[in-house]
Parts: sequence; C-alpha cells; structure tokens
Amino acid sequence: MNWEESTKQKMLHLQLPTDPRWVNIAEMNIGEILVDHAYCEQKAASSCISLIVNFYDFKEVTEVLTPVVAEEWGHFERVLEHMEKRGYKLSKPRKDEYVIKLSEFVKKGGSRPQQLSELLLMNALIEARSCERFKLLSNQIKDEELKRFYYELMVSEAGHYVNFIELAREIHNKELVNERWKEWLAYEAEVIRNLEIRADRMH
Ligand SMILES: [Fe+2]
Ligand SMILES: [Fe+2]
Repeated sequence: MNWEESTKQKMLHLQLPTDPRWVNIAEMNIGEILVDHAYCEQKAASSCISLIVNFYDFKEVTEVLTPVVAEEWGHFERVLEHMEKRGYKLSKPRKDEYVIKLSEFVKKGGSRPQQLSELLLMNALIEARSCERFKLLSNQIKDEELKRFYYELMVSEAGHYVNFIELAREIHNKELVNERWKEWLAYEAEVIRNLEIRADRMH
C-alpha cells in the first residue's frame, strides 16, 4: 500500500477495502451504476432532511446538515446530467441491501442524543464507503469526464463523513461515540464481506 492509499484508508477508517473486481464490473455497466448513484445522492439528501425534521431540537443538526442537503441534491442533478449526456435514463430505484443491513444495526431507544448519534454514525459510514468507491471509479475508469466528476465527489463525501462524525461527537458523549464507532466499522466490514458484488449497485 503506498502512502496515498494508507493515508486515505486511515482517513476513512474502513476495515475492509472494496473487492477490486467491483470497479471493473461497474465500468462495464456504467449506465446501471449511474442510475444507482443518482438514487444514492437522493437518499443522502432525504436522509439529511429527515434528521433535520426529526431532531429539530438540535440546532447543530440544522446548521450542519442544511448545506449538506443542498450539496447532495446538487450531486443528484449532476449525475442526471451525466446520464442524459450518455443517453441513459433514470429507472426505478433499487432495493438498497447495504443501507438495509446497516439500518438493522441501529440501536433503538435510549436518549435522544443517543438515537441521533446512532443515525449520524450510520450516515458517516455510508459517506465513507461512497467516498472509497468514488475514489476507485476516479482512479480506474477511462471516461475522463466521469473520472474528474468522481474525484470531486470523493472529496465532497469525505467532507460529509467528517460532518457526521463530528456532529455525533458534539451532541453525545465523545468517548461513547468513539467506542460505538469501532463497533459500526466492524459491522460494516461484515456487511460488505457478505454482500454480493453487483453490476447495478454503487454499494
Ligand atoms: Fe453526494
Ligand atoms: Fe455525501
């Protein structure tokens, strides 16, 4: 692993790198990947909106996540533009096995800060994994315009990852959040290990 790889890996803290076969399959099916990607951006925006609405009593959430909603919606729009340019159309949203599996790990109950921190950590993980996948796409696909697009998104999602983690540490006990984060990372690695590699999924 070179310096850049090890630094980025540490930054993201992910415990299992994506199977290298995924990016080749994704490139061959880029139309399908773009559709799934568009919905990932839509879900990212929707998820931030839900957090703002459900946790209206946490001022930090509104402050930090409102600009993120706008960015994610901007990403959605740009994915649609790249699709349009290449003759791909939006089709039905797919079942998101990755997010379903992560949601199963969310601890129910507890105080509101506890509940909120669980959701923030789940969102942080989705950002980290998306960032890792965008990096793979940016490094390996041949379409120059998409390469640049994915590089830009990799940087943006890394920023969102930091937003979510820091927000969790701000609204809840920092030590508890750090401990729980380790459990989330281990769980996410298991989810990735057991997910089938598919040509029509970003995750
Ligand atoms: Fe995004
Ligand atoms: Fe994001």
